[in-house]
Amino acid sequence: MNDNRVRIFDTTLRDGEQSPGASLTSNEKLEIARGLAKLGVDVIEAGFPAASPDDLEAVRRIATEIGNSAESEPPIICGLARTIKSDIDAAWEAIQHAQKPRIHTFLATSEIHMKHKLRMDPEEVVDKVKEMVGYAKTLCDDIEFSPEDAGRSDPEFLYLVLGEAIKAGATTLNIPDTVGYTTPDEFGGLIAGIMENTPGIENAIVSVHCHDDLGLATANTLAGLAAGARQAEVTMNGIGERAGNTSLEEIAMAIQTRPQFYELETGIDSTQITRMSRTVSNYTGMSVQPNKAIVGANAFAHEAGIHQDGMLKEKSTYEIMTPETVGLNKSNLVLGKHSGRHALKVRLNELGYEVEDDELKKIFKRFKNLADKKKIITDADLEALAEDQVYQVKDLYRLDGLQVSSGTMGLPTATVRMLGPNGELHTKVSLGTGPVDAVYKAIDEIVQMPNTLLEFHIDAVTEGIDAIGEVTVRLKPKNGSIAKRISPQSEMERRRTFGGYGAHTDIIVASARAYIAGLNKLLTASGRFGEAEVASEVGV
Ligand code: KIV
Ligand code: ZN
Repeated sequence: MNDNRVRIFDTTLRDGEQSPGASLTSNEKLEIARGLAKLGVDVIEAGFPAASPDDLEAVRRIATEIGNSAESEPPIICGLARTIKSDIDAAWEAIQHAQKPRIHTFLATSEIHMKHKLRMDPEEVVDKVKEMVGYAKTLCDDIEFSPEDAGRSDPEFLYLVLGEAIKAGATTLNIPDTVGYTTPDEFGGLIAGIMENTPGIENAIVSVHCHDDLGLATANTLAGLAAGARQAEVTMNGIGERAGNTSLEEIAMAIQTRPQFYELETGIDSTQITRMSRTVSNYTGMSVQPNKAIVGANAFAHEAGIHQDGMLKEKSTYEIMTPETVGLNKSNLVLGKHSGRHALKVRLNELGYEVEDDELKKIFKRFKNLADKKKIITDADLEALAEDQVYQVKDLYRLDGLQVSSGTMGLPTATVRMLGPNGELHTKVSLGTGPVDAVYKAIDEIVQMPNTLLEFHIDAVTEGIDAIGEVTVRLKPKNGSIAKRISPQSEMERRRTFGGYGAHTDIIVASARAYIAGLNKLLTASGRFGEAEVASEVGV
């Protein structure tokens, strides 16, 4: 690989999934991994297999299906493990099915972590690293080691630990700024020091992993790359622990937009960025802030008169990259009322969606309904239909029909008809403070899954009264409702919330679909039904 090539190590499914609020089912993880492979990432950190049997199974599926893709060179599939034998065994069990498996093991090296968290002496830490990296190497050729909290560790101690990790078989040394404490100059200096002083470093790849507590994650990562690191650990939309991780789209586009400055390159196909950002946002239920660089709704919007005037005269006055480079095709008229199923399939493929025949049939039906209501169907509309379809595919409960009456002349009332896990029909009528509230109460009566609605977010996909509405919700289980699956070690599970997404021209229907999607995840986590139970055809 050429010396200027930066490996993109995506940890959306591991560090990203550790975000407060993000929680993904095994099918969603697989879909995200498929999208990441298409985006061109070099490594997918698919999860932390020792965390739970579900995590192990999700990583195993990704290793088997995405780690062996026949179409193109598959990415490396990586599993995280503490420097504990059983963690390393679990990681290996999950990833060994991939063509290119990697075990990533970590142990803290800062004084504060060694003293208070690990209660280990520096010598014990060095011994543990030697022992466990060495053990991992007996299972797998490709080993990554991270000294956790490297940003606050003594550099001299880091050179020693990293040198021992290399001797024991580590091929990638990842330097995490675990708590997002460092500044770009400091972090760049730390990487330069490691490159210069670590014995054997010339035979390894140095990687950087930054958190965004001070809003410096991207700047720190770029400083690390400028100092010689050649792997960047990132997540889509920058999701991750606390304030999140370095965002993939910012690193990829900084490198692509400023080639003369950085003199680096990645394997990322930037036209896949917008689609991937939406997929991750919809699946995790974590919406992207409008002013977020690259993928925020306003990232390519020009509001001020002077800016609009400049843009009309010459786009480069206010645009440093075109929306098309990140796969944002604004308001294209793509298909119309008379378009056939084949044209729809081709366009969906161009947008990055590979839909099965039965999914295509359903999307086509909704596309035709939409074309009857809406004159202009844009790529954004098609993406919303595709996302919604993929989202609803393997659900326990599905919406089959819905009617509401609301206004100022009476109490808002909803009638909801749903298909249950065994295809059985349920119908309920409910009153509410508004139409969405009435619908949600009727759904609650059918699904019987106690929860608190933490967030309800509604957006129009395109401008205009006939636009598709997108709804994202976030739910939290009420105490005890997922108790069955909570083991003493899985405190993380306890604070998990569940996101749901729905899209429709009728915002009440979109709201219902989003709520049901969130409830289905919650039900899956509750263990009330096996993940395989699936209801049949969707009616709305
Ligand atoms: O932030 C961190 O230190 C991590 C390690 C496990 C690499 O996520
Ligand atoms: Zn991290």
